[in-house]
Amino acid sequence: MQTKLKPIELSNMRYRLGYHVSAKSGWINDPNGFIFFKGYYHIFYQHHPYSAEWGPMHWGHARSKDLVHWETLPIALTPGDTEDKDGCFSGSAVIKDGKMYLIYTGHHYYEGDSDPEHFWQNQNLAISEDGIHFEKYENNPIIASAPEDNTQHFRDPKVWYNNGSWYMILGSQSSVDELGRVLTYKSKNLIDWDYLGPITKSNDLKTEGFMWECPDFFRLGDKDVLLMSPEGIEEDEFRFRNENETGYMTGNFSYDSNRFDHSNFQELDSGHDFYATQTTLAPDGRRLVIGWMDMWGSVMPEQEDGWAGALTFPRELTLKNDKLYMNPVSELKKLRTGEVISDSFEINGFKKLDYNGNHYEAEINFDNADKSGITLTTDNEELLKITYSKDNSHVVLKRPGKDGIREAVIMPAKTLKFHLLVDTSSVELFVNDGEATFTERLYTEDKVSLNLLSQGKVSYDIYQLEKNAVKY
Ligand code: FRU
Repeated sequence: MQTKLKPIELSNMRYRLGYHVSAKSGWINDPNGFIFFKGYYHIFYQHHPYSAEWGPMHWGHARSKDLVHWETLPIALTPGDTEDKDGCFSGSAVIKDGKMYLIYTGHHYYEGDSDPEHFWQNQNLAISEDGIHFEKYENNPIIASAPEDNTQHFRDPKVWYNNGSWYMILGSQSSVDELGRVLTYKSKNLIDWDYLGPITKSNDLKTEGFMWECPDFFRLGDKDVLLMSPEGIEEDEFRFRNENETGYMTGNFSYDSNRFDHSNFQELDSGHDFYATQTTLAPDGRRLVIGWMDMWGSVMPEQEDGWAGALTFPRELTLKNDKLYMNPVSELKKLRTGEVISDSFEINGFKKLDYNGNHYEAEINFDNADKSGITLTTDNEELLKITYSKDNSHVVLKRPGKDGIREAVIMPAKTLKFHLLVDTSSVELFVNDGEATFTERLYTEDKVSLNLLSQGKVSYDIYQLEKNAVKY
């Protein structure tokens, strides 16, 4: 593909988000390199600055002192060197000896071959003293090629430190059965890596997929968690309805045997637009996660306006009974402008609230969970409806059009709590303290009303949020 060397310009601001990270202009996908370094949280993202479409991947970059006010920094990694000729694909960041190290995948096509599936991948390092300027390591690559029993899919390194050594987990596909798996490597210095083998693999294409993208591995509570984004899983009743899914397995990892004994794969978010997560450990011990707030194959109307893609609001992960819960980080409160509307009343069916914000947070408590929920409507259209039914204990999300339904099962609930984050073109819903979540992009230029559905008492607080929380 021919790229122009001038970043694309924004032509319309209608869908630009107020407090979610996106690019100054151009395309973004996966979050990368989420880390706390010298007083700032850093987040990077897969980025193509020259069009609103996926293209040769750069690493875009933003930083924040508080996880909610972000400052865009210069592009951190640009592809085109021998080791990353056709793209700097996803990866992670660690801190060593006071420097930030980015570990990322170099993407390569074969000369004269235009089939996008014909590629090879290696792993590389870039280093920064100040967290702004990055130098690629002079002896890249650090891992030159995939193991012999691997296909071309060999990417998305996530690195962590344990007991005197660095470990890397990589997304991969076995060439023996063409199923997804994750591989580990070990190093003393981040430069020389020993291959340890797969820690676990997909058992079956339909239920566990053919390639495990963006793996992440961490200890949470008394379990090890493998979080990843498999490609190829088939829809199963109400589950796995997106093109690809992000989900996890919990279990126990043995550093001695490089084995991970684990539960089945479970989806992490039940919405249409959530993928390719990246976690980090905050200085206070919280496990934080950010995802790409879009999905391969989704229609992205903002492409017409010179940009595409955004990151989710940062969330805290917790583990309860082997299940991951996600909630917005508590720093969200810092975005509240002071304008708040609170009320409480009995509803018999439906109530339209006299509120039309574009950037807000709503905490809604339904005393009677059954058939309770919300809708978001314009004067002539229902854009989104999310309700709980006690018959099957499902929370169901409906948006108009083809493939509009998404569902999550929760524990049978008598009362229901919705924590809703609305931004110009996104909605994130956290149900019952993070037991289920739905992440959605939502596009309209009309005024949107919030409506409540219930039979019983409902109380709510709606907080207006800042709308210029990201500086471009
Ligand atoms: C996931 C992914 C990664 C890859 C990157 C390329 O969305 O396909 O596996 O590194 O995007 O942009």
